Amino acid sequence: MFIVLEGIDGAGKSTQAKLLAAWFENQGYDVVLTKEPTDTAFGRLIRRLVLTGGREGIIDGAKISHEAEALLFAADRAEHVDKLIRPSIEAGKVVISDRYFYSSLAYQWARGLDLEWLIDLNRFAIRPDLVLLLDLPAKESIKRLRSRKIKSEFDKIFELQRKVRENYLKLVRIFPEMKIVNAMEDIQTVHEQIVALVETLLEKKVYGTR
Ligand SMILES: Nc1ncnc2c1ncn2[C@@H]1O[C@H](COP(=O)(O)OP(=O)(O)OP(=O)(O)O)[C@@H](O)[C@H]1O
Ligand SMILES: [Mg+2]
Repeated sequence: MFIVLEGIDGAGKSTQAKLLAAWFENQGYDVVLTKEPTDTAFGRLIRRLVLTGGREGIIDGAKISHEAEALLFAADRAEHVDKLIRPSIEAGKVVISDRYFYSSLAYQWARGLDLEWLIDLNRFAIRPDLVLLLDLPAKESIKRLRSRKIKSEFDKIFELQRKVRENYLKLVRIFPEMKIVNAMEDIQTVHEQIVALVETLLEKKVYGTR
C-alpha cells in the first residue's frame, strides 16, 4: 500500500504522516515513512539549491530555471521510486510519503510551467492508492509557520501559497486518488479524518471494489 500526504507549507503533512505511521504500526503493519525531497544525493542537491538561492530564490524560482528545477525534483523522485518506494511496496510494506509528484505539479505549475509537461515528466512515478490533501487557507498556513523565519517576503509567500492551494484543489479533479482532508481542524480531528479514509481504502483492498 502506498499513501501520500500533500498540502501547502504548514498544512500539517509531517505531523499527520507520523501519526498515520504510528497508527499502521499499531495495526501490525510494516511501515516505511519517507519524504520528498529525499535525503539522497539529488534531494540534498535540491535542498542546497534552495538554500543558496535564498528565500527569494525559492519564491521567484531558484537561480536555475524553473524547468531545471522541475527536472531536479523529477530526478530525485525517480531515485526515490526505484530505490525505496517500489521495493518497499513489493515487500508488502505500507509506504507513507510526505509529499510526492503532486507537490511538483502544484508548485511548479504555480510558477508558470505547463501542467501537461509536468504530468508527462512524472509519468514514471507509481500512482499511490491514496493521496491525502491537507487543505487549508494560505492565511492559516502563514500563521502556523510564523515561528519559522518568513517575515520578509511575506506577501510573496502568501501569494504563492494561495496559488498552490488553488492548484491542489484543481488536481483533485484530475487524480481520483486525491481526497480532501479539512486541515483546519485540530491535530487529533484531522488524524481521525485520515484514519476514516484509510479504513475505507483497506476495506476496498480486502473485499475488492464493488
Ligand atoms: N491541525 C493543526 N492545528 C494547528 N496547528 C497544527 C496542526 N497541524 C500541525 N500544526 C502545527 O503547524 C506547524 C506545521 O505543521 P507541519 O510541520 O506538520 O506541516 P507541514 O505540512 O509538514 O509543513 P512543511 O510543508 O513546511 O513541511 C507545526 O508547528 C505543527 O505543530
Ligand atoms: Mg513537513
